[in-house]
Amino acid sequence: MNLRLPMYLALLFMTSTGFAQDDTRQKVEFPQMVQQHMLANMRDHLLALSEIQALMAVADYDKAAQIAEQRLGLSSLDNHGAAHMAQMMPKEMQEIGSEMHKAASQFAISVVDAGASGDLKPALNDLSKLMQQCVACHAAFRVH
Ligand code: HEC
Repeated sequence: MNLRLPMYLALLFMTSTGFAQDDTRQKVEFPQMVQQHMLANMRDHLLALSEIQALMAVADYDKAAQIAEQRLGLSSLDNHGAAHMAQMMPKEMQEIGSEMHKAASQFAISVVDAGASGDLKPALNDLSKLMQQCVACHAAFRVH
């Protein structure tokens, strides 16, 4: 899912106001071990994003790219048993997950370019697209 900015802002508005009280997220059932593994992965996703931002602030773009590619990008797929987990997900959830990995790999490229060009805007735009996939999936699905 590639959300346009107005739709993204509308989504943010809805989740930050009382609308979220009606929890319309689809509940997805995973075996306990798989669920624990997925949530541990999620916490690492958040940690990776925080590391990326800290590295961008000190202009270490190559290291930021490495973290994006290896922990969130297409290269991360083998590490977290993604194929196995994806089989248990509804199709839309799989698609958002795969868009997220693609967006992370795209960001890994543009953040290296930022180092060369000195222009951070394209990388920030790609980082935003990456985070929109986190938001899209969280708005649609839950495990608890
Ligand atoms: C394909 C779907 C999907 C994507 C993409 C996704 N998440 Fe999640 N994430 C979930 C689900 C489902 C939960 C469980 C939510 C619930 O049950 O309330 C979750 C939970 C989490 C949690 C809580 C973990 C815990 O210990 O309870 C964090 C943190 C998190 N996600 C971070 C991220 C970040 C950061 C990204 C983007 C880089 C991301 N997620 C992308 C589906 C996704």
